[in-house]
Amino acid sequence: MGESITITDNRTGESVEIPIEYGGISSEPFKKLLPGVWFEDEAFTATAATRSAITDIDGDAGILRYRGYPIEQLAEHSTYLEVAYLLIFGELPTTEQLEQWTHDITYHTYIHENMRKRFLEGFHYDAHPMGMLVSSVAALSTFYENAKDIFDEEVRYKQITRLIAKMPTLAAAAYRFSVGMPFVYPDNSLSFSANFLSTMWKVAEPRYDANPALAKALDVLFILHADHEQNCGTTAMRVVGSSHADPYSATAAAAAALYGPRHGGANEAVIKMLTEIGSPDNVPAFVESVKQGKGRLQGFGHRVYKNYDPRAQIIKQTADEVFEVTGKNPLLDIALKLEEVALSDDYFISRKLYPNVDFYSGLIYQAMGFPTEMFTVLFAIPRTAGWLAHWQELIEQDQRIARPRQLYTGAGERPYVPISER
Ligand code: ACO
Repeated sequence: MGESITITDNRTGESVEIPIEYGGISSEPFKKLLPGVWFEDEAFTATAATRSAITDIDGDAGILRYRGYPIEQLAEHSTYLEVAYLLIFGELPTTEQLEQWTHDITYHTYIHENMRKRFLEGFHYDAHPMGMLVSSVAALSTFYENAKDIFDEEVRYKQITRLIAKMPTLAAAAYRFSVGMPFVYPDNSLSFSANFLSTMWKVAEPRYDANPALAKALDVLFILHADHEQNCGTTAMRVVGSSHADPYSATAAAAAALYGPRHGGANEAVIKMLTEIGSPDNVPAFVESVKQGKGRLQGFGHRVYKNYDPRAQIIKQTADEVFEVTGKNPLLDIALKLEEVALSDDYFISRKLYPNVDFYSGLIYQAMGFPTEMFTVLFAIPRTAGWLAHWQELIEQDQRIARPRQLYTGAGERPYVPISER
């Protein structure tokens, strides 16, 4: 046996040796030695929920790779659709495969008219676009009865293409509804990102041609957000998927998890923080207040990365390219000063707190004209590829239904008390 650990039950003196494989230990020998004794691991901070071959993160070294390819190389050379293919099928596509894939996604961007007219238009006038997206993705399952055939590979492929293709359509529809603009049909002659910008911003022109630099920047942001292994949303996808629910319902669960401010909402908090700071001159005083425990530096720190988040590096470059087109976001100077002050301060250095993906992404979205309520929606669109890659892996591995245990701390047995005696 190579590397291993030994667990001894001190009540009986019995031991079990468990090999360390892929950096983990199996719970099976543990369960045999200690039936009915459970790991207490709230929030799964020390639990590997699966073996996965999709995304590799080394938080100490600041490394992120999709299927082995460094995120920096993918952001520089690839496109979101190519990366989506890589995540889902495990290899970069050949020219023919990419053509077919792009065609299949492009020709599934339309949504059923009932979805738009009866469902989306039924929301209250000020409905949050993320709430609309979560519920409309779930509603899509009712349009595709065979989506339940999750073990049929061809049917799975169909639902995967539909989901990736329809997310931007639903997202833009939700936004336009919230500002009282009419729905815009997707334009099949445009790339994935340019089409999304067209469905967002087109008014009366016959064809909306997004600025290529902005479409490219958005595509890079989509690549950076496409997957991040077993985060909260992906775990929701896997847990619901493990019950063999259809992929639309599982994706709705994942999107609902992303909606929470601890997950997909941090870039919105960064904009709020920078606006409140107001000027680079106020940065040192703000950093002092954070050090005294009065709030956190939003967009800094990460559960996994204890080094510069590699996505934040790339986003910083992308920001410069976007600002050349849109003009500089006035909050940028405050952000740069904040980063400079924090990265030279022992409080942040000793705690290994670096900018994360959210520190600069909100600045870009804001400069491109997206309202803050759309920030999480902009995260959900590309993350759909990651969710589906993990869903497909789960189905192929034929994993059992997710069902954790608990440590019961409530009352012992007690007799029922009639209401008159309570
Ligand atoms: N500002 C100031 N201090 C911080 C920050 C921060 N942003 N983040 C962590 N710390 C401090 C904590 O106070 C703690 O200090 P202590 O040891 O003196 O008590 C220490 O660093 C460790 O922090 P934890 O809370 O234990 O780290 P955890 O891994 O639980 O939290 C998290 C990670 C939630 C991302 C945290 O860093 C944070 O709140 N950051 C701000 C919000 C944010 O940017 N979230 C986006 C994450 S990326 C994403 O989800 C896409």
